[in-house]
Parts: sequence; structure tokens; C-alpha cells
Amino acid sequence: MSERKQVLGIVGSPRRGGNTETLVDEVLRGAAEAGAATEKIILSALDIAPCDACDACKDSGECILADDMEELLDKMARSEVWVLGTPVYWWGPSAQFKAFVDRWYSKAQREEDKAFFQGRRVILVVPFGDSEVKTAQHVVGMMTDALDYVEAEFFATVLAPGVNDPGEVRAQSEVLAAAYRAGREAVSKP
Ligand SMILES: Cc1cc2nc3c(=O)[nH]c(=O)nc-3n(C[C@H](O)[C@H](O)[C@H](O)COP(=O)(O)O)c2cc1C
Repeated sequence: MSERKQVLGIVGSPRRGGNTETLVDEVLRGAAEAGAATEKIILSALDIAPCDACDACKDSGECILADDMEELLDKMARSEVWVLGTPVYWWGPSAQFKAFVDRWYSKAQREEDKAFFQGRRVILVVPFGDSEVKTAQHVVGMMTDALDYVEAEFFATVLAPGVNDPGEVRAQSEVLAAAYRAGREAVSKP
């Protein structure tokens, strides 16, 4: 078994170099400095179709859609820590991020697939333009309930209110520090 923890960062904003990617990078930097092997995925660069609710996965545990989600699920299965980033779009997650989470469905059907999620450590990263933290409540609520349902460990949330321009979050040293710390602790805490 590999000694190094695997940490997978998933960026749900289509904007390269934006606030979501900046924060995911910072979490991954903390994780790497704590000794983890890290990898970053940009959802908008992948072909991930929305779930079409055919329910074929109910028996097989496999999704019949042939796209990039299969490989991404394999990467998730090999990673102890998932860093999930989405901007707030209309008080919810981005469409790319929602399609990605909907596709977890195939791994949430059968008892024998439960280990896919169980005990995974998850860090949620959410930048948004509004200065009110409440604006992220539905994204945080959705992920709280979803992670609870699949029995993953919701380890930390990094919220970045008041950021609109790409990379604007670089000026928020406290948020960057919280992201870095979350990455370090997710790897180093037992
Ligand atoms: C389609 C769209 C919808 C948005 N909706 C909201 C919103 O409901 N509330 C908010 O505070 N910011 C909203 N924003 C602003 C983004 O959350 C903000 O610019 C964020 O920093 C983008 O992250 P990124 O740089 O990673 O793309 C929206 C932006 C877009 C493009």
C-alpha cells in the first residue's frame, strides 16, 4: 500500500485561473507540503454528461454513459481526500459541478459500492461575489446532506465571499490561509 495519501482536487468553475481554481490550488499546496501526492481536475475540460436517470446502475453499479466520468470515478476511488470546488451560480453550484455530483448516483446504489464514499475526507471550496456568507447556504447544505447520505467525512468548508474578478481571492490572505490549512490538516490529522 502506498504510504503517501492521494489528494484529488476538482475544479467546478469553467474559468481557468479563477477563484475556485486558486483556492483548490491552495488546498492542494497545503496537502502536498504535508506529504500527499496531489492531482487537479478541471471539470469543464472533461466530457461529463448529466445523469439521464435510466437506473441501469441500480443492478450493475455501472453507468451506461460512456464519457470521462468513468476515469474520474477511478481517480476518486484511489484518493483518500477530495477537494471539491464550485463557485456559487444563482445560489447553487455551477452546472458542471452539479452534473458531476449527480453522476455519483451509480456509486450510491448498491451496498457493495458503499466503500466508494465511506470515510473519504472532503474539503468544499466555494467562492462567490456576494459579501453575505448566507449566499453559499444551498451549496453547503446540498453537500452536507449528500456527504452525510453517502457516509463520507465532511472535513472542512472554505468560503470566499466578496470575490468576483478571476483570481481576486488572492488578495484575501485569511481565506488563502484557511484553504492551505485545510489541505495540510486533511492529510496530517488521523
Ligand atoms: C452564471 C453566474 C451566476 C452567478 N451567480 C452568483 C450568485 O448567485 N451569487 C453570488 O454571490 N455570485 C454569483 N456569481 C459570481 C461568482 O460566484 C463569482 O464571480 C466567483 O468568484 C466565480 O468563481 P471563479 O472565479 O472560480 O469562476 C455568478 C457568476 C456567474 C458567471
